[in-house]
Amino acid sequence: EKGTYAHYMLKEMDEQPAVIRNIIQHYQNDAGDIELTEGVRSLVSEADRIYIVACGTSYNAGLVGKDILERIAGIPTEVHVSSEFGYNMPLLSSRPLFVFLSQSGETADSRAVLVEVKKRGYKALTMTNVPGSTLSREANETMLLHAGPEIAVASTKAYTAQIAVLAILAYDIARANGKELPFELMPELARVATIMDSIMSQKELFEDLSDRYLKTTPNTFFIGRGLDASVCLEGALKVKEISYIQAEGYPGGELKHGSIALIEDGTPVIALISQPKTNLNIRGNVKEVVARGANACIISMQGVEHENDEFILPHVEPILAPLITVLPVQLMAYYAALARGCDVDKPRNLAKSVTVE
Ligand code: F6R
Repeated sequence: EKGTYAHYMLKEMDEQPAVIRNIIQHYQNDAGDIELTEGVRSLVSEADRIYIVACGTSYNAGLVGKDILERIAGIPTEVHVSSEFGYNMPLLSSRPLFVFLSQSGETADSRAVLVEVKKRGYKALTMTNVPGSTLSREANETMLLHAGPEIAVASTKAYTAQIAVLAILAYDIARANGKELPFELMPELARVATIMDSIMSQKELFEDLSDRYLKTTPNTFFIGRGLDASVCLEGALKVKEISYIQAEGYPGGELKHGSIALIEDGTPVIALISQPKTNLNIRGNVKEVVARGANACIISMQGVEHENDEFILPHVEPILAPLITVLPVQLMAYYAALARGCDVDKPRNLAKSVTVE
């Protein structure tokens, strides 16, 4: 039930801190250590490469997961769109593990891949929000997202839940392989939840940004680098699907190789800047678009040196920054849809779970 909330999407965005806390509870033992089932542990211990297969928002979460798995666990990871993977399977490593990311666990494109990889004798792990769903039943193992039912068509809390669960998996693999861990995950996730609370208590700031940058525009860009670029894809998807604004998520450095031609006087460009490593580069990219008339909105994070940023998010470990930077873009998409009179929870042409290929 959405209770006093105007929309399920708003309620589900608000639930994200609680979801993160719930995930911490479910994946740690009494000593506070990460605890996965023996089944999941043995699946990942046999793998020499992970193939994440997913669609839409789950695919976007997979892009973040790839970085976390490679940097924390040191395991090569690829991310594939289900509807492509089924027909154009890449060369596989000798011991691949397939990880299906799916909020609903019912997405037909993903299931088609699962059927095919099982036929070939490979193992699969499903990360889903729905226990007993098709993808859960048909995979060898399941890790649940523990996000509670997601009703709004636009996925929000499943995205952050998937990233958190992928981080837990990465940490478990890293520990099993005796790798040095850069920070303690569970306490940092708990801090992430607290910061999420503080962002969600300042919604009017993002409503204001949405009014200034998205309310009347026909198009917009989200730009970032590295993990920020992955979140930009998710920001653009959210904006497209619920507000019908043509939106592109782009790696900042790639703009000048073509898409910058679309920048005109007043084109809104929303830049996400959470990664210290690429701070100067992306700020250079912002200057390039501003010089061509763009109306730039910078959302950054403490820990990167800032200039005229519209909003500076509290600091979290850079590798977990997507859990935080996605909130402003979810909120901006929501308020843009609202201001433009769109049906937020039931956007045109879309269904919650896509059960046709
Ligand atoms: C976007 C959205 C879709 C889904 C996609 C995959 O907000 O909801 O892009 O993410 O259809 O769905 P699942 O995760 O259920 O497989």
